[in-house]
Amino acid sequence: MLETIAGAQVARTPAEVRAWTATMRAAGKRTALVPTMGALHAGHMTLVDTARQHAGAVLVSIFVNPMQFGPKEDFSAYPRPFENDCALCAAKGVDLIYAPTPATMYPPGFQSHVEVEQLTQGLCGAARPTHFRGVTTVVMKLLNIALADVAVFGEKDYQQLQTLKRMALDLDHPTAILGAPIAREPDGLAMSSRNVYLSAAERQAAPAIVQSLRAAQARVRAGERDAARLVAEMSAAQSAAGGRIDYVQIVDPQTLQPLEMLERSARVIVATWFGRARLLDNMDLLI
Ligand code: PAJ
Repeated sequence: MLETIAGAQVARTPAEVRAWTATMRAAGKRTALVPTMGALHAGHMTLVDTARQHAGAVLVSIFVNPMQFGPKEDFSAYPRPFENDCALCAAKGVDLIYAPTPATMYPPGFQSHVEVEQLTQGLCGAARPTHFRGVTTVVMKLLNIALADVAVFGEKDYQQLQTLKRMALDLDHPTAILGAPIAREPDGLAMSSRNVYLSAAERQAAPAIVQSLRAAQARVRAGERDAARLVAEMSAAQSAAGGRIDYVQIVDPQTLQPLEMLERSARVIVATWFGRARLLDNMDLLI
C-alpha cells in the first residue's frame, strides 16, 4: 500500500515502484525518474519540469545514499526535511515519490558495485575517491527499480552527469539519461541543498564563484586561449572572496581531461569551499 505524506504518494519498496511503472505503462504513459537526496529546492524542481516534458508520469526518488559519502563527510548532517520535500513534490504534481531506507537499498550481504573507471578519476573523484562508486551503484539500482523511459540529472554536478551517461551507455541500460541546465539564485549562485550550511557572510561572498566563471567566459570571447592563465584568474578571484579552492579546471566537456589551450569547446569545473559548504559550479567556455 502506498503511503500519502503531505499530499504526495510515497512508495517504500522496489515492488511498489515496479507496480506503479507497470500501471503507468499500461495506461500509455511514458515515465521519468528524477533521483535526488531530498532537501529539495527550486533547482530540483527544474529537473521535474524537464522530466514532465518527456513523460506523462514523473517519479522522484529521495534517498540520502550513505555509499557516496566519505567517512569524514556530512552524511549525518545532510538535511532531511522529508515532509516538506513531499509537500513540494505534491505541489509540483509529481506522481510518485520513492523513499527507501538504507536497509532496503543495502540489505545485509550486499556486495555488488558499479564503477566507471576514467571519468571518475579527476575533479571531484580526486578528493572523494569512493564517491562516484557510490553514486553509480545507487543510480544503477534506481534505474533498475524504476524501469523508466528517461532519467533526468542536473548539469550542476557535471562530472556525475557525464559519468552516468557513460555508465548507461556501457552497460546497455535502456533508460535515456538527460541533462538539465544549472538553476541559479538571482545573484547567480548555483542552487544546492548544501547552501544551507553557509553563514550570512559566506552566502554574500559565494557568488564570487559564478562571477569568476562569467569573467572567464568573457575573457575567452575576447580571445584568451591559455587555460592556466584563466584558471589563475578564477582562482585568485574566488580566494579574494574568502573561498578555499578544491579545484578549478578547464576540461574537455566529454572526456573531462584537462586542456592546456582552448581550441574547441571546453568546460570549466570548480569546487570551492565557503565555510563548511563545498560548492560546485561549471560553465561552457564557448569559442
Ligand atoms: P542531489 O544533490 O540531491 O541532486 C539531485 C539532482 O539534482 C542531481 O541530478 C543534481 O545535479 C540536480 N541539481 C542539484 N542542484 C541543481 C541545480 N542548481 N540546477 C540543476 N540541477 C541541480 O546528485 C545527487 O543528489 C545524488 O548524487 C544522486 C544522483 C541522487 C545519487 O544519490
